[in-house]
Amino acid sequence: MKAAGPFLEEGEEADLEPLVEMERESFSHPWTRRNLKHALDRGHLLVLRGPNGAQAARRGIFGYCVFELVAGELHLHNLAIEPGRRGQRLGRRLLETILWLGSRRGARSALLEVRESNWPALQLYYSLGFQSVRRRRNYYSHPTEDALELILEFPQAAC
Ligand SMILES: CC(C)(COP(=O)(O)OP(=O)(O)OC[C@H]1O[C@@H](n2cnc3c(N)ncnc32)[C@H](O)[C@@H]1OP(=O)(O)O)[C@@H](O)C(=O)NCCC(=O)NCCS
Repeated sequence: MKAAGPFLEEGEEADLEPLVEMERESFSHPWTRRNLKHALDRGHLLVLRGPNGAQAARRGIFGYCVFELVAGELHLHNLAIEPGRRGQRLGRRLLETILWLGSRRGARSALLEVRESNWPALQLYYSLGFQSVRRRRNYYSHPTEDALELILEFPQAAC
C-alpha cells in the first residue's frame, strides 16, 4: 500500500494535458506539450502527486520538476507547484527530494536559471544553499529580463 501522499513519481503520458495547463499558468514562456513529452519519455520529469492519485482532478498533480543529470551536474530545467497549492512547502519538499535523488545518482552540483524578479523561487533556492554565480543579460522574453544562474555544490564524502 502506498503511503499517504503527496508522493513523487515519474510522470506518465496521461499527465501531459494537466502539465501543459500548469506550464501555461506558471510561466510566461511555457514549455510545449512536445517539450514536456520529450522530457517525460527520457524519464526526466517527476510529478508530485496528491494522496488520491491519478483519480483526482488534474490527475492529482500538485507540482512537477524537469531535470537532467549531465556529467555530474544536475540541471534543473523547470519546477512548478499548482497555483492554488503554493506556500505550503510543497516546492521545498519537491526540490529537496530531487536534489537528494541527484546526489544519490552521482551529481556533484545542481544548476538552474531563474528570472531575477522571481522572488519566491529565489528565496527557496537561497534557503537551500544555492548561490548566484552569473547574470545572463536579457535571457528571458515575455517580458525581457535577466536570468540569474544559480549553483549548489553538494558536499563530497570524505575519503
Ligand atoms: C517557486 C515555487 C515552485 C515555490 O513553491 P511553493 O510550494 O510555493 O514554495 P514553498 O511553500 O515550498 O516555500 C519554500 C520557500 O520559498 C520561499 N517562498 C515561497 N513562496 C514565497 C513568496 N510568495 N514570497 C517569498 N518567499 C516565498 C520561502 O523562502 C519558503 O520558505 P519556507 O519554507 O521557510 O516558508 C512556486 O512559487 C511556483 O510554482 N512558482 C511558479 C513557477 C516558478 O516560478 N518556478 C521556478 C522557476 S525557476
